[in-house]
Parts: sequence; C-alpha cells; structure tokens
Amino acid sequence: MKTAEIREKFLQFFQSKGHLRLPSFSVVPQDDPTLLFINAGMTPLKPYFLGKKPVFPGYEGEWHRVTTCQKSVRTGDIENVGRTNRHQTVFEMLGNFSFGDYFKKEAIEWAWEFLTDKKWLGLEPDRIYVTIYKDDDEAFEHWTRVGVPPERIHRFDADENFWPQNAPTQGPNGPCGPCSEIYYDRGPAFGSDTWADYYHTRESNRFVELWNLVFPQYDRKEGGLLEPLPRPNIDTGMGLSRVAMVLQGVRDFYETDEFVPLIQKIVELSGVSYEGPSSVAHRVIAEHTRAVSFILADGVAFSNTGRGYVVRRLLRRAVRFGYLLGLRQPFMYKLAVVVAEVMGGVYPELRENLEAIQKQIRIEEEQFLRTLESGIKRLEAMLAPLAPGDTLSGQEAFTLYDTYGFPLDLTVEIAGERGIRVDTEGFEKALEEQQERARAKAAFSKELFQRSHQALAALAAEYGGTQFVGYETLEAQAQVKLLLAGELLEEAPAGTEVQVVLDRTPFYAEGGGQVGDSGILEWEGGWAKVFTTQKNPDGLYLHMAQVEEGTLKAGTGVRALVDIHRRDTEKNHTATHLLHAALRAVLGPHVQQKGSYVGPDRLRFDFSQFEPIAPKDLARVELLVNRWIQADFPVTYTYKPLEEARKEGAMALFGEKYGDVVRVVSVEGSVDHVTSKELCGGCHVRRTGEIGAFVVVAEEAVAAGVRRIEALTGNAAVVFVRETLERVGRLARELGVSPEALPLRVEKLQEELRAREKDVERLKLELARAQLQGASTPLIKEVGGQRYLTVRLEGLEAGALRNAADELLDKHKADLVAVGSGQNLVIKLGKAALERGLDAGVLMKQLSAQAGGRGGGRGALAQGGGFDLDKAFAALPEALAQATP
Ligand code: ALA
Repeated sequence: MKTAEIREKFLQFFQSKGHLRLPSFSVVPQDDPTLLFINAGMTPLKPYFLGKKPVFPGYEGEWHRVTTCQKSVRTGDIENVGRTNRHQTVFEMLGNFSFGDYFKKEAIEWAWEFLTDKKWLGLEPDRIYVTIYKDDDEAFEHWTRVGVPPERIHRFDADENFWPQNAPTQGPNGPCGPCSEIYYDRGPAFGSDTWADYYHTRESNRFVELWNLVFPQYDRKEGGLLEPLPRPNIDTGMGLSRVAMVLQGVRDFYETDEFVPLIQKIVELSGVSYEGPSSVAHRVIAEHTRAVSFILADGVAFSNTGRGYVVRRLLRRAVRFGYLLGLRQPFMYKLAVVVAEVMGGVYPELRENLEAIQKQIRIEEEQFLRTLESGIKRLEAMLAPLAPGDTLSGQEAFTLYDTYGFPLDLTVEIAGERGIRVDTEGFEKALEEQQERARAKAAFSKELFQRSHQALAALAAEYGGTQFVGYETLEAQAQVKLLLAGELLEEAPAGTEVQVVLDRTPFYAEGGGQVGDSGILEWEGGWAKVFTTQKNPDGLYLHMAQVEEGTLKAGTGVRALVDIHRRDTEKNHTATHLLHAALRAVLGPHVQQKGSYVGPDRLRFDFSQFEPIAPKDLARVELLVNRWIQADFPVTYTYKPLEEARKEGAMALFGEKYGDVVRVVSVEGSVDHVTSKELCGGCHVRRTGEIGAFVVVAEEAVAAGVRRIEALTGNAAVVFVRETLERVGRLARELGVSPEALPLRVEKLQEELRAREKDVERLKLELARAQLQGASTPLIKEVGGQRYLTVRLEGLEAGALRNAADELLDKHKADLVAVGSGQNLVIKLGKAALERGLDAGVLMKQLSAQAGGRGGGRGALAQGGGFDLDKAFAALPEALAQATP
C-alpha cells in the first residue's frame, strides 16, 4: 500500500467517525516563541485540550473531534539519523483528537478497527502487542474486549507510557496523561528477538511501535501537581512512514515509496550505489534534504540562531556526507526538486516555494563548501609533517571538528588516502570532555532558572499578572514585588543587573512585534536604568534593569518612567497597521502578516507574497499611508469577544493565540475605502497626524514566499530623506552634472567601462601572442615517448593562459603543454596523448602535491593556482613518466 493511500485512509476513517479534517499546520509554532518546532500532531492544538472553544477559521461551528496529518520536526537526535532506521527529523504524524468529547473506549476501539479491518489497513491481529500505563486498568479492559489477549498487553512506568515522557516528575506543564502504545511484530525475518526480549531491552528491529494513544486527562501545574481536566481528551500519533514500512514489507523507511526516488537521485548524482557502509551517506542526505525543504517551505531562513540554525546544521551535515560520496559541488538544491515532486501534492507549499527553496539551499551549500575547503587546507597542513604509517592526534582531529564542522569520518578518509591513521579514541575523549563542560554549564543555569521560575509562579498565583497602565501614561507610581538575578534577591545594590517585577507598570513588554520599553525607575535615594521589558506566560512583566545609584529593595515604592522614544515606537506601530491595510488594498488579500518589528528607530513588516513588488505598486502603498497620515484620523480601541471582532473583519494572524476578549485597534476614517482594523495589544498614536511622514527604505525577499518592507516615520523619515538628498548632491557634484542628470551620466560611464574592459581583454591576448612569438623557441622535451614543453609567461590570467596553451600545442605539435604565469598553471593535452590514456586532472593533482598549488580538471584540460612554478615544472617529467600508461 502506497504511503499516500495510507494517509488518505487514515483521514477518511476518522472523518467517517465524525472528525473535522484539517490541513497540516506550519512546522513553525505560531504562538510559542520558546518552542522551536511543532513536534507532534497535538502541539498546535494544545489550547483546545485546555478548554479553548474549538472553532477553526474557515469551518462552520464547533468541532470537538479533529483529525490531521501533521508535519512534525524533532531534532534531539540528529547525529543518529542515517545510522539507525528509526531516527527521522521531519516526519508526518497521523492523529485523531478529542477535545473533551470521546475517551479511551472509542479511541481504542477505533484504533483496533483501523489497524485490523480488511477495509482499512488489514494488519494481522495476532501480531499486535500493546503497552499501557502501570495502573491503567481501564485501558487494559478495553484492549482485552476488542480481542488482544492479556499476555500481549504490558504495563510500563511513566518513562514509557506517559506523554509527554515522565511528565509527572519532570514536566513540562500543560496537558498530559497516560498513554498506550501499539506495536507490530514484523516477524523473524527482521530479527530473532521475542516480545519478552523487547520487554526487557526496549530495543528491537522486529517489533515496531506504530501508534501512540495518549489520554490527556491532567493539566500539569508547577511543582508536578496533576490537576484533573474537567473533561478528558484524546491525542494520538501514528508515524506514517513506519506504517508504510510495515505494509510495504521493507527493511526501513528509506525503502518506502516516498524515499526511494530520493535515494535513486542521490545514486545518480554521486555515481555511488546504495549499499555497504557508504549507504549511511545516502540516507543522511535523503532525510536531511527532505527536512530542509519542509522547514524552508514554512518560511524559516538559514541563520545562526534558533530555527535557522537547526536547518543550517541539517544542511551542513548532508553536505559533509555528500563530500564523502565525492560530491564537491552544490547538489542538495537538485534533490529539493524530487522532494517537491513526491510530496508537493499533499504539501503544496513545497511546490509553490520551490524556486526560492532551491535558491536558498544553493547559496548555503556554496558557502559551506567554501568552509569545508578551508578545513581541508588546515587538515593538509596538519598532515604535511606526517609520513605514511604515522597517526594524527585526536586533539587535532577534534580541532577540525570544532572549528570547521569537519566530521571525523571525513578526516579519517582524507588522512587514510595518505596512509595516515587518526587517533579516533583521542577524538572521542576530547569530544566527551567538551560535552561534559557544556552539560555542567547547562545544568547550572537550568537550576537557577527553575528557582526563580517557581518564585514567579507563586507570585502570579497570588496576585495575577502585572497591571499595565502604559496605554494612557508613560509614568506611574508602583511597588516592587520581586527582584531576580538568576535567583531571588532581597535587595539589589548599585551596579547589580536585576529583573524587577512591579505590581503595575507603564512599561510595555515586548510582544506582537513591538519592542519592550526602556526607561528608568526612581525611588528615595536611588535609581535604576531599565534596558527593556519582557512578559512571562503568567502575565508578569520583567523590567530588565541595572541599579545605578542606591539600593533597590523588594517592597519599595518606585516611580516608573518610560523613555520618551516610546512615542516614536507608537508612530511606527500605527504606521505598520496602515502599511498592512495598504498592502492588502494594492497587492490583494493574499498579503498576510508573517512577522514584524516595531521599534523607536524603524518598522519592519514581513508578509506573504511571492513576486517582488513593482515600483509603481510600492509607490502607491507609500502614498496611501501618507494620505492617511495627512487626514489626521483618530485611532481608537475597543474590547470585544473574538468572534465579534472577526465578523467585523478585524485582521487576526492565522494560528495566533488570542484570549476570548480581544483588543481591536482601528483607524476611524478610510482612505480610498480602505480601513484599518486589527487585533493588537500594542501602543499607538492618538491621531494618525502624529506619525508625520512615512518613507519605505527597503523591500526585499527574506524567505520562500515572504517579503519584507522596512520603513521610517516622523523625524527619522525626514532625516533619511535629508541624508539621501545630500548623498545624491555629492555624487552629482563629483560627476559634474545636475542631480536630475545623474542616471544618464552613470549609464554612460558604465558603457565606457564595458568598452574599456573589452580593450583590456584584447590587449591581454595580444600580449600573450607577442610573448609567444618573441620567446626563443621553447625546448621540446620528451619523457616516455611524450613530447612536452613548459612555458612561463608574464601577467596572464587563467583565460589568456588557456588560449596560449592551445596555440603552443598547435604550433609545436606537442603531446602536452604546461603554461604558467605568476602562480597560475594550465596543463593541456594533445589528442594523441589523450587517446593514450593520459589525464590532465591526474597530472595536476600530482603537481599540486609537490608544488603547493591547488587545481583540478579532467581529460585534456586542467588548471589551478597557488603554484611555485619552478617546482611544478621541475616535477613534471616524473609525473608524466608515472602517469604514462
Ligand atoms: N502526542 C503523542 C506523541 O507524540 C501522540 O507521541
């Protein structure tokens, strides 16, 4: 059964049981900046388990039963991917969910029906085993009733049969409960172990976990308290590719129909067949290319932090394994096409964003290949003093790994080519020491974090969140409730960095794209500077501060003063709303906000859009916003139920978490019948006229299908225009024309430049010819019947050298010509030499080893740089003698 058919059957089965079928959510969590990726089908649905009304945009009514096939990402075990047949970073999880509707009985009956009924998967009932939580007699009863014999039901602790794993003792907080896992015996062909063996070792190839039925009946609170939920839920997760592997009778998921085309393409690109130890590389590349494509398709871009760093690691690991297969040029971007072909039907974003995905992958591959090359140079320097039979130290191999991301396998491979061993044990030891240091550091900060976390939770439970008074005022009297600096403080003397929690505050906490406020706190005998403000999930505001004078104590009354730059932030925030509305009016309703930055300095708005924006459209958008500003409309706020706000057309972010009552920010008055109305908790000007001016300063692509606009308002806009005019004026003066005539003048200059470049090219060629003619007839030498000559010329680059080599070869009827200039070297073979089996690339490689350069090529032509030409020419006869077949 094909994977697509299994997916479709699952969703149809649960639709037939009254479930709403929703498309997969993005792998990027929409409402949780602390979570890297959606890691299970239930993650985007969490609020509904905790009692949020289950209504979904675009679907009528309430749905207490939902089914999805969710793209999920788990990156805890990247190093194991490819080495085992279980680990996958991006996978598809099939799930059925009940929000306070049905419970264990139905979940178990339906799972059994779907797995065993011939109409659905038709698996053999006798091969099914289940595990349950140690005291879950209810689950036991339902399983025996559907027909599972008691000896095939096993009970485990919370480390196996609770979800999230060990949640009672270790958290996280939130919905959790016992679970029941369903296993399938693939038979002795896959392993000689028994179910009893598995029971003890929990490792098996033969018994495969297919499906996890979770019974979330608790809301875990701080300290491990399991508070029963008023109505228990169902959350299940079935690994699609595992089921496909079982039904297709193949060894692992890499052999299922959705992976085979990828593996085949890798074989084709690398020329290395999928077998033996090198097949690890094929698997790593296939899995990671799929993962990178999926993550980029949802708008993540490569970077050095967070999600962007995870995709970067995945790509690099794949490129390194590609290197082991001999792939020295970007290749992953070609594989992304296969991913889009195979998976694009179910996940159209893979197809729609393909071009942008390929472009990003390719650029990233090129960059990383350059890093790898520098690593290789470093490795070569380490190997230079060693002779065959020597050993490269583990510490040196580790340095390569640590600074160049150079994997041990690659070091072993390259050293091995020269007969040099690598002390892999020493490497492991160095790696372990480093990991130990990292672990110790992490454990320490985790402990401090937990302690202050507990204090905050207790405060929130007692008083609720901080009262925010900053919409109306920038100044307020308040009382210090808590002082934290990694741990709880009673007082903070001058010089201390401290997080201050107040009972009420005019400081806005970072959120909805708007930066946290800065400012100062004053009290009798002292003051502190606030750098920024943040909010924790319980609604407590943390003022990140440094005490400048005096001592700040818990309980003290303070005067909280927000920095006046907040007024500029307000201008940028209202302008962001106007920009959003103007973009939708000009470009169309497909424009959806994907992210924003609103600070005192500028605003940045990311939104869904594939094409670059035409200059005339951008000008219209800018004009619309400025007309709004000039109309000086009032900005108003209302609080109303979410549903009502939505009905009135207020713009909400898809997937964003909103409370039941929301704040709606509207501009009272329309421009060209366009109005602005958004759900927003941020700070705004009172009337649009305060914004003063609005100028777009940049428009660019930031990820697949996402574009970004940066703009300035108020004084910053005026200053920007002033500075730009000055720059233009300076250029015009330098070129001796009026500013209006600048474009024409620059065009002319470029034409002239192109003409000059052509002249230079021509002159170089002539120079080469003149040198060749002027030189006394170069001496033709002979080795092993091959007629060759070496010629040194002055001031020529690779292109001109190649031409010179051609002419020399022709003129002297030689078998081989080596021409050099500066540190550049070109080797060219004649037809006869080529037919005799010589290869210019092979010769170039040998010369590289002896004359310091690097070069490549194959067949008749090879070229390179960095050579000591004397040495290269001197080494040629012997290289030629050796290479002559
Ligand atoms: N949420 C459960 C899991 O991921 C189904 O295993």
